[in-house]
Amino acid sequence: MLIDSFNRKIDYLRLSVTDRCNLRCTYCMPSGGIKLIDRKEMLTFEEILKAAGILSETGIRKIRITGGEPLVRDGIIDLIKQIKKIEKITDISITTNGILLNEYLDELYKMPVKGINISLDTLDRQKYKEITRGGEINQVLSAISNSINIGIKSVKINVVITNLLDEKDIAGFAEMTLDKPVHVRFIEMMQPAGGDGSSETIECSSTGVISNLEFNNLKPVSSSQDFNPVDTIFSVMKKMGGYHAVNDKIGNGPALYYKFKQARGSIGFIINDKQYCSYCNRIRLTPYGTIRFCLFSDEEYDIKKKIRDNYCPADIKAEIAEFVKAKPENREDSCRYDNKGKSPINFKLKDFMNRIGG
Ligand code: GTP
Ligand code: 5AD
Ligand code: SF4
Repeated sequence: MLIDSFNRKIDYLRLSVTDRCNLRCTYCMPSGGIKLIDRKEMLTFEEILKAAGILSETGIRKIRITGGEPLVRDGIIDLIKQIKKIEKITDISITTNGILLNEYLDELYKMPVKGINISLDTLDRQKYKEITRGGEINQVLSAISNSINIGIKSVKINVVITNLLDEKDIAGFAEMTLDKPVHVRFIEMMQPAGGDGSSETIECSSTGVISNLEFNNLKPVSSSQDFNPVDTIFSVMKKMGGYHAVNDKIGNGPALYYKFKQARGSIGFIINDKQYCSYCNRIRLTPYGTIRFCLFSDEEYDIKKKIRDNYCPADIKAEIAEFVKAKPENREDSCRYDNKGKSPINFKLKDFMNRIGG
Protein backbone atom coordinates (compact mmCIF):
# COMPACT_ATOMS: atom_id res chain seq x y z
CA MET A 1 0.00 0.00 0.00
CA LEU A 2 1.22 3.53 -0.79
CA ILE A 3 0.93 5.77 2.25
CA ASP A 4 2.30 9.28 2.43
CA SER A 5 3.71 11.07 5.46
CA PHE A 6 0.25 12.36 6.40
CA ASN A 7 -1.24 8.89 6.49
CA ARG A 8 -3.14 9.39 3.24
CA LYS A 9 -3.62 6.24 1.23
CA ILE A 10 -2.60 6.84 -2.38
CA ASP A 11 -4.51 4.40 -4.57
CA TYR A 12 -5.58 6.57 -7.52
CA LEU A 13 -3.51 7.41 -10.58
CA ARG A 14 -4.36 10.15 -13.06
CA LEU A 15 -2.72 8.89 -16.20
CA SER A 16 -2.26 11.59 -18.83
CA VAL A 17 -1.69 9.77 -22.11
CA THR A 18 -1.07 12.79 -24.32
CA ASP A 19 -0.63 16.56 -24.23
CA ARG A 20 -2.35 16.82 -27.64
CA CYS A 21 -5.91 18.07 -27.88
CA ASN A 22 -8.50 18.74 -30.56
CA LEU A 23 -9.76 21.84 -28.69
CA ARG A 24 -8.01 24.93 -27.36
CA CYS A 25 -9.95 25.88 -24.24
CA THR A 26 -9.09 29.42 -23.23
CA TYR A 27 -8.46 28.51 -19.59
CA CYS A 28 -6.19 25.67 -20.60
CA MET A 29 -4.05 26.99 -23.43
CA PRO A 30 -2.79 30.38 -24.54
CA SER A 31 -4.06 31.56 -27.96
CA GLY A 32 -0.67 30.99 -29.58
CA GLY A 33 -0.76 27.33 -28.57
CA ILE A 34 1.87 25.69 -26.48
CA LYS A 35 5.03 23.81 -27.20
CA LEU A 36 4.10 20.16 -27.56
CA ILE A 37 6.09 17.36 -26.03
CA ASP A 38 8.55 15.81 -28.45
CA ARG A 39 7.23 12.40 -29.57
CA LYS A 40 10.35 10.57 -28.46
CA GLU A 41 9.89 11.99 -24.98
CA MET A 42 6.35 10.58 -24.76
CA LEU A 43 5.87 7.27 -23.04
CA THR A 44 5.13 4.48 -25.51
CA PHE A 45 2.16 2.18 -24.77
CA GLU A 46 4.60 -0.48 -23.66
CA GLU A 47 6.18 1.95 -21.20
CA ILE A 48 2.80 3.15 -19.94
CA LEU A 49 1.84 -0.47 -19.27
CA LYS A 50 5.11 -1.12 -17.47
CA ALA A 51 4.65 2.03 -15.36
CA ALA A 52 1.02 1.15 -14.58
CA GLY A 53 2.05 -2.40 -13.67
CA ILE A 54 4.73 -1.18 -11.26
CA LEU A 55 2.35 1.37 -9.78
CA SER A 56 -0.30 -1.29 -9.27
CA GLU A 57 2.28 -3.23 -7.27
CA THR A 58 2.83 -0.18 -5.04
CA GLY A 59 -0.89 0.09 -4.24
CA ILE A 60 -2.58 1.94 -7.12
CA ARG A 61 -6.03 0.43 -7.70
CA LYS A 62 -7.93 3.06 -9.73
CA ILE A 63 -6.77 4.73 -12.90
CA ARG A 64 -8.28 7.73 -14.65
CA ILE A 65 -7.17 8.19 -18.25
CA THR A 66 -6.81 11.87 -19.07
CA GLY A 67 -4.81 14.22 -21.28
CA GLY A 68 -4.80 16.59 -23.19
CA GLU A 69 -7.59 14.77 -24.93
CA PRO A 70 -6.99 11.05 -24.42
CA LEU A 71 -9.17 10.01 -27.36
CA VAL A 72 -6.85 11.72 -29.86
CA ARG A 73 -4.05 9.27 -29.06
CA ASP A 74 -3.98 6.52 -31.69
CA GLY A 75 -4.74 3.10 -30.26
CA ILE A 76 -6.13 4.46 -27.01
CA ILE A 77 -8.84 1.80 -26.77
CA ASP A 78 -6.24 -0.98 -27.02
CA LEU A 79 -4.18 0.71 -24.34
CA ILE A 80 -7.16 0.90 -21.98
CA LYS A 81 -7.97 -2.75 -22.67
CA GLN A 82 -4.39 -3.69 -21.76
CA ILE A 83 -4.48 -1.59 -18.59
CA LYS A 84 -7.68 -3.36 -17.61
CA LYS A 85 -5.79 -6.62 -17.68
CA ILE A 86 -3.45 -5.48 -14.90
CA GLU A 87 -4.59 -7.68 -12.09
CA LYS A 88 -4.70 -5.22 -9.22
CA ILE A 89 -6.39 -2.39 -11.10
CA THR A 90 -10.04 -2.48 -10.08
CA ASP A 91 -11.43 0.71 -11.67
CA ILE A 92 -10.69 2.48 -14.87
CA SER A 93 -12.35 5.69 -16.00
CA ILE A 94 -11.73 8.42 -18.52
CA THR A 95 -11.98 12.20 -18.69
CA THR A 96 -12.64 13.54 -22.18
CA ASN A 97 -13.86 16.67 -23.92
CA GLY A 98 -16.44 14.47 -25.63
CA ILE A 99 -15.73 15.55 -29.21
CA LEU A 100 -14.65 12.05 -30.34
CA LEU A 101 -16.56 10.14 -27.69
CA ASN A 102 -19.41 8.86 -29.89
CA GLU A 103 -16.84 7.01 -31.97
CA TYR A 104 -15.46 5.08 -29.01
CA LEU A 105 -18.49 4.78 -26.75
CA ASP A 106 -19.44 1.20 -27.64
CA GLU A 107 -15.94 -0.06 -26.94
CA LEU A 108 -15.70 1.87 -23.69
CA TYR A 109 -19.06 0.51 -22.59
CA LYS A 110 -18.18 -3.07 -23.46
CA MET A 111 -14.88 -3.02 -21.57
CA PRO A 112 -16.45 -1.67 -19.34
CA VAL A 113 -15.01 1.60 -18.07
CA LYS A 114 -16.43 2.59 -14.73
CA GLY A 115 -17.08 6.18 -15.61
CA ILE A 116 -16.78 8.92 -18.19
CA ASN A 117 -16.25 12.55 -17.19
CA ILE A 118 -17.04 14.99 -19.97
CA SER A 119 -16.00 18.65 -20.08
CA LEU A 120 -18.74 21.12 -21.00
CA ASP A 121 -18.62 24.68 -19.67
CA THR A 122 -21.83 26.12 -21.13
CA LEU A 123 -24.99 24.90 -22.88
CA ASP A 124 -24.86 27.65 -25.46
CA ARG A 125 -23.44 26.77 -28.87
CA GLN A 126 -21.79 30.13 -29.48
CA LYS A 127 -20.28 30.42 -26.04
CA TYR A 128 -18.97 26.86 -26.33
CA LYS A 129 -17.21 27.85 -29.56
CA GLU A 130 -15.72 30.83 -27.80
CA ILE A 131 -14.49 28.95 -24.74
CA THR A 132 -13.07 26.02 -26.70
CA ARG A 133 -11.90 28.15 -29.64
CA GLY A 134 -13.99 26.39 -32.24
CA GLY A 135 -15.59 23.29 -30.68
CA GLU A 136 -19.01 22.06 -31.84
CA ILE A 137 -21.29 21.60 -28.86
CA ASN A 138 -23.70 19.19 -30.56
CA GLN A 139 -21.01 16.52 -30.70
CA VAL A 140 -20.59 16.78 -26.94
CA LEU A 141 -24.29 16.97 -26.11
CA SER A 142 -25.01 13.86 -28.14
CA ALA A 143 -22.05 12.04 -26.57
CA ILE A 144 -23.42 12.86 -23.11
CA SER A 145 -26.91 11.55 -23.99
CA ASN A 146 -25.48 8.46 -25.63
CA SER A 147 -23.21 7.72 -22.65
CA ILE A 148 -26.21 7.84 -20.34
CA ASN A 149 -28.45 5.85 -22.66
CA ILE A 150 -25.95 3.12 -23.37
CA GLY A 151 -25.62 2.61 -19.60
CA ILE A 152 -22.17 3.92 -18.61
CA LYS A 153 -22.23 3.54 -14.84
CA SER A 154 -21.06 7.02 -13.94
CA VAL A 155 -21.42 10.02 -16.24
CA LYS A 156 -20.16 13.36 -14.97
CA ILE A 157 -20.10 16.75 -16.62
CA ASN A 158 -17.21 19.05 -15.72
CA VAL A 159 -18.20 22.72 -15.90
CA VAL A 160 -15.26 25.04 -15.36
CA ILE A 161 -16.66 28.31 -14.01
CA THR A 162 -15.87 31.22 -16.32
CA ASN A 163 -17.49 34.64 -16.63
CA LEU A 164 -19.44 33.25 -19.61
CA LEU A 165 -21.40 30.93 -17.33
CA ASP A 166 -24.78 32.52 -16.68
CA GLU A 167 -28.04 31.71 -14.93
CA LYS A 168 -29.49 30.09 -18.02
CA ASP A 169 -26.57 27.67 -18.21
CA ILE A 170 -26.77 26.95 -14.52
CA ALA A 171 -30.51 26.23 -14.70
CA GLY A 172 -29.99 24.05 -17.77
CA PHE A 173 -27.27 22.00 -16.08
CA ALA A 174 -29.33 21.72 -12.88
CA GLU A 175 -32.36 20.51 -14.86
CA MET A 176 -30.29 17.80 -16.51
CA THR A 177 -29.74 16.25 -13.08
CA LEU A 178 -33.48 15.96 -12.42
CA ASP A 179 -34.31 13.19 -14.83
CA LYS A 180 -30.89 11.96 -15.92
CA PRO A 181 -28.43 10.00 -13.78
CA VAL A 182 -25.73 12.57 -14.44
CA HIS A 183 -23.46 14.39 -12.02
CA VAL A 184 -22.70 17.99 -12.95
CA ARG A 185 -19.66 19.48 -11.22
CA PHE A 186 -18.93 23.19 -11.21
CA ILE A 187 -15.17 23.62 -11.06
CA GLU A 188 -13.23 26.58 -9.83
CA MET A 189 -10.77 27.59 -12.49
CA MET A 190 -7.11 27.15 -11.67
CA GLN A 191 -4.57 29.31 -13.36
CA PRO A 192 -2.11 27.34 -15.43
CA ALA A 193 1.52 28.27 -15.94
CA GLY A 194 2.14 30.83 -18.66
CA GLY A 195 -1.59 31.06 -19.29
CA ASP A 196 -1.42 34.53 -20.72
CA GLY A 197 0.87 33.36 -23.49
CA SER A 198 4.08 34.14 -21.66
CA SER A 199 6.36 31.37 -20.58
CA GLU A 200 6.49 32.70 -17.04
CA THR A 201 4.46 31.07 -14.33
CA ILE A 202 1.69 33.31 -13.10
CA GLU A 203 0.94 33.81 -9.48
CA CYS A 204 -2.33 32.37 -8.33
CA SER A 205 -4.31 33.31 -5.29
CA SER A 206 -4.41 30.67 -2.59
CA THR A 207 -7.49 31.99 -0.86
CA GLY A 208 -9.69 29.29 -2.37
CA VAL A 209 -13.40 29.74 -3.08
CA ILE A 210 -13.08 31.11 -6.56
CA SER A 211 -9.91 33.05 -6.91
CA ASN A 212 -9.65 36.61 -7.99
CA LEU A 213 -7.88 36.58 -11.27
CA GLU A 214 -8.28 37.32 -14.91
CA PHE A 215 -7.19 34.91 -17.54
CA ASN A 216 -7.54 35.16 -21.31
CA ASN A 217 -10.35 37.68 -20.73
CA LEU A 218 -12.44 35.04 -19.04
CA LYS A 219 -12.83 36.25 -15.54
CA PRO A 220 -12.77 33.42 -13.12
CA VAL A 221 -15.13 34.60 -10.60
CA SER A 222 -14.66 36.28 -7.31
CA SER A 223 -17.11 36.70 -4.50
CA SER A 224 -16.50 40.44 -4.65
CA GLN A 225 -17.90 40.66 -8.19
CA ASP A 226 -21.56 41.31 -8.93
CA PHE A 227 -22.14 37.85 -10.22
CA ASN A 228 -21.01 35.27 -7.74
CA PRO A 229 -21.40 31.94 -9.52
CA VAL A 230 -21.50 29.80 -6.43
CA ASP A 231 -24.24 31.95 -4.86
CA THR A 232 -26.05 31.99 -8.19
CA ILE A 233 -25.83 28.22 -8.51
CA PHE A 234 -27.31 27.81 -5.02
CA SER A 235 -30.02 30.40 -5.65
CA VAL A 236 -31.02 28.70 -8.93
CA MET A 237 -31.12 25.39 -7.08
CA LYS A 238 -33.28 26.92 -4.36
CA LYS A 239 -35.69 28.36 -6.94
CA MET A 240 -35.92 24.91 -8.52
CA GLY A 241 -37.36 23.44 -5.36
CA GLY A 242 -34.59 22.93 -2.88
CA TYR A 243 -31.70 20.54 -2.54
CA HIS A 244 -29.85 18.58 0.08
CA ALA A 245 -26.23 17.67 0.59
CA VAL A 246 -25.21 14.19 -0.47
CA ASN A 247 -23.02 12.38 2.00
CA ASP A 248 -22.29 9.33 -0.13
CA LYS A 249 -19.02 9.42 -1.93
CA ILE A 250 -19.50 9.93 -5.68
CA GLY A 251 -16.17 9.17 -7.33
CA ASN A 252 -12.65 9.65 -6.09
CA GLY A 253 -12.24 13.37 -6.43
CA PRO A 254 -12.34 16.43 -4.23
CA ALA A 255 -15.98 17.28 -5.07
CA LEU A 256 -18.86 18.15 -2.73
CA TYR A 257 -22.28 17.06 -3.96
CA TYR A 258 -25.92 18.21 -3.64
CA LYS A 259 -29.13 16.76 -4.99
CA PHE A 260 -32.69 17.87 -5.70
CA LYS A 261 -35.42 15.82 -4.09
CA GLN A 262 -35.97 12.71 -6.18
CA ALA A 263 -33.39 13.80 -8.73
CA ARG A 264 -31.53 11.03 -10.50
CA GLY A 265 -28.30 13.00 -10.72
CA SER A 266 -26.46 15.49 -8.55
CA ILE A 267 -24.68 18.82 -8.58
CA GLY A 268 -21.16 19.11 -7.25
CA PHE A 269 -18.47 21.68 -6.64
CA ILE A 270 -14.74 21.28 -7.02
CA ILE A 271 -13.33 24.18 -5.10
CA ASN A 272 -9.71 25.06 -5.12
CA ASP A 273 -9.12 25.08 -1.40
CA LYS A 274 -6.41 23.47 0.62
CA GLN A 275 -8.86 21.97 3.12
CA TYR A 276 -9.69 19.24 0.57
CA CYS A 277 -6.06 18.26 0.33
CA SER A 278 -6.48 16.14 3.44
CA TYR A 279 -8.60 13.72 1.34
CA CYS A 280 -6.07 13.58 -1.47
CA ASN A 281 -5.59 10.02 -2.71
CA ARG A 282 -3.83 10.63 -6.02
CA ILE A 283 -0.64 10.86 -7.96
CA ARG A 284 -0.19 11.73 -11.62
CA LEU A 285 1.76 10.22 -14.48
CA THR A 286 2.61 12.79 -17.17
CA PRO A 287 2.70 11.91 -20.88
CA TYR A 288 6.48 12.36 -20.81
CA GLY A 289 6.91 9.78 -18.10
CA THR A 290 7.25 11.48 -14.76
CA ILE A 291 5.23 10.98 -11.60
CA ARG A 292 3.99 14.06 -9.77
CA PHE A 293 2.42 14.07 -6.35
CA CYS A 294 0.51 17.36 -6.51
CA LEU A 295 -1.05 19.63 -9.15
CA PHE A 296 0.80 22.50 -7.51
CA SER A 297 4.21 20.95 -7.41
CA ASP A 298 6.73 20.33 -10.14
CA GLU A 299 8.67 17.81 -8.12
CA GLU A 300 8.94 14.73 -10.32
CA TYR A 301 10.05 11.14 -10.23
CA ASP A 302 11.35 10.15 -13.66
CA ILE A 303 9.91 6.67 -14.11
CA LYS A 304 10.52 6.78 -17.87
CA LYS A 305 14.27 7.06 -17.33
CA LYS A 306 14.23 4.12 -14.93
CA ILE A 307 12.21 2.02 -17.38
CA ARG A 308 14.40 2.99 -20.34
CA ASP A 309 17.52 2.23 -18.28
CA ASN A 310 16.08 -1.19 -17.40
CA TYR A 311 16.03 -0.61 -13.67
CA CYS A 312 14.73 -3.45 -11.60
CA PRO A 313 10.95 -2.97 -11.00
CA ALA A 314 11.37 -3.73 -7.28
CA ASP A 315 13.85 -0.83 -6.98
CA ILE A 316 11.53 1.50 -8.89
CA LYS A 317 8.73 0.49 -6.54
CA ALA A 318 10.81 1.30 -3.49
CA GLU A 319 11.83 4.66 -4.97
CA ILE A 320 8.21 5.55 -5.71
CA ALA A 321 7.24 4.75 -2.12
CA GLU A 322 10.03 7.05 -0.97
CA PHE A 323 8.99 9.79 -3.43
CA VAL A 324 5.38 9.68 -2.24
CA LYS A 325 6.53 10.17 1.34
CA ALA A 326 7.57 13.67 0.27
CA LYS A 327 4.00 14.57 -0.87
CA PRO A 328 3.28 17.81 0.99
CA GLU A 329 0.31 18.10 3.31
CA ASN A 330 -1.51 20.55 1.06
CA ARG A 331 -1.20 22.74 -2.01
CA GLU A 332 0.24 25.65 -0.06
CA ASP A 333 2.96 23.44 1.28
CA SER A 334 3.61 22.15 -2.23
CA CYS A 335 4.53 25.68 -3.16
CA ARG A 336 6.46 26.32 -0.02
CA TYR A 337 8.36 23.15 -0.77
CA ASP A 338 9.06 24.15 -4.35
CA ASN A 339 9.93 27.70 -3.45
CA LYS A 340 12.38 26.40 -0.91
CA GLY A 341 10.43 27.98 1.89
CA LYS A 342 10.27 31.43 0.35
CA SER A 343 6.69 32.04 -0.59
CA PRO A 344 3.98 30.13 1.22
CA ILE A 345 1.20 32.46 0.09
CA ASN A 346 1.37 32.91 -3.68
CA PHE A 347 1.16 29.52 -5.14
CA LYS A 348 1.35 28.53 -8.75
CA LEU A 349 0.33 25.74 -11.03
CA LYS A 350 3.66 24.77 -12.52
CA ASP A 351 2.47 23.48 -15.83
CA PHE A 352 -0.27 23.53 -18.43
CA MET A 353 -3.31 21.44 -17.59
CA ASN A 354 -3.07 19.56 -20.88
CA ARG A 355 0.30 18.23 -19.77
CA ILE A 356 -0.46 17.36 -16.17
CA GLY A 357 -3.93 16.01 -16.91
CA GLY A 358 -5.99 18.06 -14.48
P1 GTP B 1 -13.80 11.33 -10.06
O1 GTP B 1 -14.18 12.01 -8.81
O2 GTP B 1 -13.13 10.04 -9.86
O3 GTP B 1 -14.93 11.24 -11.01
O4 GTP B 1 -12.69 12.18 -10.80
P2 GTP B 1 -12.18 13.65 -10.74
O5 GTP B 1 -13.23 14.62 -10.48
O6 GTP B 1 -11.00 13.64 -9.85
O7 GTP B 1 -11.62 13.79 -12.24
P3 GTP B 1 -11.79 14.80 -13.47
O8 GTP B 1 -10.75 14.36 -14.45
O9 GTP B 1 -13.17 14.83 -13.97
O10 GTP B 1 -11.39 16.20 -12.91
C1 GTP B 1 -12.32 17.16 -12.53
C2 GTP B 1 -11.62 18.40 -12.05
O11 GTP B 1 -10.96 18.13 -10.82
C3 GTP B 1 -10.57 18.95 -12.99
O12 GTP B 1 -10.70 20.34 -13.12
C4 GTP B 1 -9.29 18.62 -12.31
O13 GTP B 1 -8.28 19.55 -12.61
C5 GTP B 1 -9.71 18.72 -10.86
N1 GTP B 1 -8.82 17.96 -10.01
C6 GTP B 1 -8.31 16.74 -10.22
N2 GTP B 1 -7.51 16.38 -9.22
C7 GTP B 1 -7.51 17.42 -8.36
C8 GTP B 1 -6.87 17.68 -7.13
O14 GTP B 1 -6.09 16.89 -6.61
N3 GTP B 1 -7.18 18.88 -6.55
C9 GTP B 1 -8.03 19.78 -7.10
N4 GTP B 1 -8.30 20.91 -6.49
N5 GTP B 1 -8.63 19.57 -8.24
C10 GTP B 1 -8.37 18.43 -8.85
N1 5AD C 1 -8.94 24.93 -14.04
C1 5AD C 1 -9.83 23.98 -13.67
N2 5AD C 1 -10.13 22.91 -14.43
C2 5AD C 1 -9.51 22.80 -15.61
N3 5AD C 1 -9.60 21.89 -16.57
C3 5AD C 1 -8.76 22.21 -17.55
N4 5AD C 1 -8.12 23.36 -17.27
C4 5AD C 1 -8.59 23.76 -16.06
C5 5AD C 1 -8.30 24.85 -15.22
N5 5AD C 1 -7.44 25.81 -15.58
C6 5AD C 1 -10.53 20.77 -16.49
C7 5AD C 1 -11.12 20.40 -17.81
C8 5AD C 1 -11.40 18.93 -17.66
C9 5AD C 1 -10.56 18.50 -16.48
C10 5AD C 1 -9.63 17.38 -16.73
O1 5AD C 1 -9.81 19.62 -16.09
O2 5AD C 1 -12.29 21.10 -18.08
O3 5AD C 1 -12.76 18.69 -17.39
FE1 SF4 D 1 -8.28 20.29 -24.53
FE2 SF4 D 1 -9.12 19.75 -22.09
FE3 SF4 D 1 -7.39 21.72 -22.46
FE4 SF4 D 1 -9.90 21.98 -23.36
S1 SF4 D 1 -9.25 21.75 -21.22
S2 SF4 D 1 -8.03 22.47 -24.51
S3 SF4 D 1 -10.44 19.98 -23.94
S4 SF4 D 1 -6.98 19.60 -22.80
